[in-house]
Amino acid sequence: MDNVPDPIIQQPTDAIVRITSTAICGSDLHLYKVLSPLMRAGDIIGHEPMGVVEEVGRDVEHIKPGDRVVVPFNISCGHCYFCDQDLYYQCETTRDTGKLAEASSLLGRGKGASLFGYTHVYGAVPGGQAEYLRVPQAHFGPIKVPEGPPDERFLYLSDVLPTAWQAVAYADTPQGGTLGVWGLGPIGQMCARIAMQQGVGRVIGVDTVPERLSLAARYGVETLDFNAVDRVGDVVLEMTGGRGVDAGIDAVGMEASGSAVASILQATKLQLDRATALRECMASIRRGGTLSISGVYAGPIQAFQLGDLFDMQIQVRMGQANVRRWVDDILPLLTDEDPLGVEDLKTHEMTLDDAPHAYEIFQKKQDGAIKCVLKP
Ligand SMILES: NC(=O)c1ccc[n+]([C@@H]2O[C@H](COP(=O)([O-])OP(=O)(O)OC[C@H]3O[C@@H](n4cnc5c(N)ncnc54)[C@H](O)[C@@H]3O)[C@@H](O)[C@H]2O)c1
Ligand SMILES: [Zn+2]
Ligand SMILES: [Zn+2]
Repeated sequence: MDNVPDPIIQQPTDAIVRITSTAICGSDLHLYKVLSPLMRAGDIIGHEPMGVVEEVGRDVEHIKPGDRVVVPFNISCGHCYFCDQDLYYQCETTRDTGKLAEASSLLGRGKGASLFGYTHVYGAVPGGQAEYLRVPQAHFGPIKVPEGPPDERFLYLSDVLPTAWQAVAYADTPQGGTLGVWGLGPIGQMCARIAMQQGVGRVIGVDTVPERLSLAARYGVETLDFNAVDRVGDVVLEMTGGRGVDAGIDAVGMEASGSAVASILQATKLQLDRATALRECMASIRRGGTLSISGVYAGPIQAFQLGDLFDMQIQVRMGQANVRRWVDDILPLLTDEDPLGVEDLKTHEMTLDDAPHAYEIFQKKQDGAIKCVLKP
């Protein structure tokens, strides 16, 4: 934690938001560990903020000082080639075209849109785990939300809810069919709830953290502890008549646990990503099914079973969430009835000064931490 100058308006499309709540994401944990070489001293982290508009630039019309807003984690202009196709994470106006961003794409294609608080390959934009945030492209990004319910009702519109919504949409499980969800962190929990809300028949959820398994079970998920079985795929096949789940969501990403070999490859930098959960997910999907990846991956994966995916005719869809694409679908559910139960995700509320402790318990899955919300 450090003190920095308050941000000021730099462009006519900027806004300044006074942050009232700001959450820590599984994606921040990647920066905290495996992606930390991409960080520089003085970088401000955080991409799940909400608060009150303090000031707007002259081109910002849909929000005004005093409005209560949630800020999407990706920064999109709303009117470029990709934004016009609802691919807000691919925004051409904000994508980082710097040398580092270009070099970090092995295909030589650069990176997607700038992200708040996400290093020097995603625009080096100061993030939202702070008292004040400068919001670029504020003529489009910030989502105005109603007064009344607590912040925790709307906060997850910044990331968790649209990410989970997109993962479920991409999974495209048939009505009454079976969805497998790997990882029962905030993203996986919400994937399960959204899928059931939309008429999926069964959700099988895989994790090992007791509090996360039991929270999912409370919502009707059939849970599986990956440390309690030999091969997750075998158990999932047993549970699904020998065929596998219709669709699988990987909500774990590059820091999956459960394989010593993968950990050594990552520690020795032979492989950036630990793909244990992804492989188990792939081994559990039925032929002709769908693999939806929302867990973040950053590099090549060795001995990747592409041929098996091909033979099994598995469709793969993935990527960062195009946040604004899903907001109009989600907002009507954040009503008094709170059908998704979003408010129970938060296990810890702390001040900004407690952020180092929050990171530690969230990373180590201690003290029942599922979602830590900081209150500046
Ligand atoms: N696509 C997007 O736009 C987007 C947005 C937000 C987060 N994410 C990514 O989604 C992932 C999950 O985020 P989160 O906030 O829920 O994080 P989290 O760290 O709280 O959750 C990850 C969960 O995966 C579990 N896990 C670890 N290894 C596993 C394995 N082998 N099998 C099954 N489960 C395993 C962990 O116990 C943990 O509960 C992260 O990779 C994050 O970067 C992506
Ligand atoms: Zn996030
Ligand atoms: Zn754009």
